[in-house]
Amino acid sequence: MADPVVLLERPAEGVALIRINRPEARNALNLEVRKLLAGHLAELGEDTVTRAIVLTGSEKAFAAGADIKEMAEAGTIEMLRRGVHKLWRAIAGCPKPVIAAVSGYALGGGCELAMTCDIIVAGESASFGQPEVRIGIIPGGGGTQRLARAVGKYKAMKYILTGELISAKEAFEMGLVSEVVPDPEVEGRAIDLARQIAVLPPLAVQLAKEAVLAGMDAPLTSALALEAKSLQILFSSQDQKEGMRAFIEKRKPKFSGR
Ligand code: CAA
Repeated sequence: MADPVVLLERPAEGVALIRINRPEARNALNLEVRKLLAGHLAELGEDTVTRAIVLTGSEKAFAAGADIKEMAEAGTIEMLRRGVHKLWRAIAGCPKPVIAAVSGYALGGGCELAMTCDIIVAGESASFGQPEVRIGIIPGGGGTQRLARAVGKYKAMKYILTGELISAKEAFEMGLVSEVVPDPEVEGRAIDLARQIAVLPPLAVQLAKEAVLAGMDAPLTSALALEAKSLQILFSSQDQKEGMRAFIEKRKPKFSGR
């Protein structure tokens, strides 16, 4: 039997790691991979043990984009029937922090997948890009929007209109990745960040993620109101009391997730 194209691992307490496993196809995102990713993220988003998620690929590719062979001959109705946009929504809708650990290529849908994550750790030789224009299409998983929001119109336009690849160093300098680390350290560093998040009070983590993401789509006054309400809500949590009392009593907090 063939290896599963997406693997689920538990590298540390509270941390789940999802690994795209089609190295022979540079982790191209076929429908099977997309459905498994959406399914895992939906389940991990709901379970009571997972506090942070690492999403990674293989050494040569995080993901080289949508599976070109699977869509090359498809027509409009077939593309509509596949409903890939719904799977993208499920992936982006995970309420828990998702950290992309990017080695090798993150192109097209692979770059878009990384951009749905909350933190991106990239290896020194990783490369990003939206090369869709070179094969007669445009980004379809949020690339035209998320790249422009992440790096600004003029840099995004340059890469989307030329399909030119972006080195990890350039990506870091323009704000597309959170950290660049030596190649062998990518996964370890992402797990380390996830482990740090996993011991924090989960309600505060969840509302912080929600406020940043919802706020980015809203006018500043609405976003600030959302932030204020989210902060106020946390004052009903046991973890807020525990965190502040522990600080005052000079001891380590014990968070319960309530
Ligand atoms: N879809 C399907 N198969 C792919 C693929 C993809 N996106 N990327 C790589 N592969 C396959 C290759 O066809 C090849 O298969 P065979 O061994 O059967 O020939 C295998 O993976 C290895 O690929 P290469 O020999 O090309 O590997 P490389 O290391 O020399 O190059 C690469 C790697 C630069 C990523 C190159 O494969 C490449 O340019 N891939 C396509 C990148 C791309 O255009 N992505 C955008 C896709 S469209 C999209 O993502 C849009 C959307 O969401 C709507």
